[in-house]
Amino acid sequence: MRRAIFPGSFDPLTNGHLDIIRRSLPLFDEIVIAVLNNPEKQPMFSVDERCRMIEKIASTVDSGTCRLTVDSFSGLTADFARKKKASAIIRGIRAIGDYEYELRMSLMNRRLQPEIETVFLTAAEEYSFVSSTLMKQVFELGGRVDGLVPESIIAKMRAKLDRDY
Ligand code: PNS
Repeated sequence: MRRAIFPGSFDPLTNGHLDIIRRSLPLFDEIVIAVLNNPEKQPMFSVDERCRMIEKIASTVDSGTCRLTVDSFSGLTADFARKKKASAIIRGIRAIGDYEYELRMSLMNRRLQPEIETVFLTAAEEYSFVSSTLMKQVFELGGRVDGLVPESIIAKMRAKLDRDY
């Protein structure tokens, strides 16, 4: 049984995240999309809202033989991965700029849980500039994020800001 977690803030989930999820599916029997509950950050969506939005989208993904689930966690990613009996942590790399931070995280996670490997997947080029932060910023300033964020999430962002898009 090859189980992995895909941890992140997902505030909100983008098509870049979805691309990484789709690429991970053939590699594992189960992937847990793990939404971090970070009390230090002021998110656009609560952890519950994020989980519900991701669950809805995950149910539309053709995941083949891989079971795709959603959960939230607080504290260390490495501890959550161990609690879930995962053998891998999935992270997406968009461009070289991500690498240094991701490398440091993977080495720290390895130190914390030596038996859990970080698996890096490269996102499709068309999402290489896409981040949740950039999507929120552009959207809040009235820019369009179609094709970069799932439609159902854009609708929730619109409702959240209570204005026309
Ligand atoms: O989507 P993000 O914000 O890039 O995800 C970052 C995340 C959640 C993977 C990272 O911040 C994390 O693992 N946070 C949990 C706390 C933790 O384990 N910190 C040490 C990492 S080595």
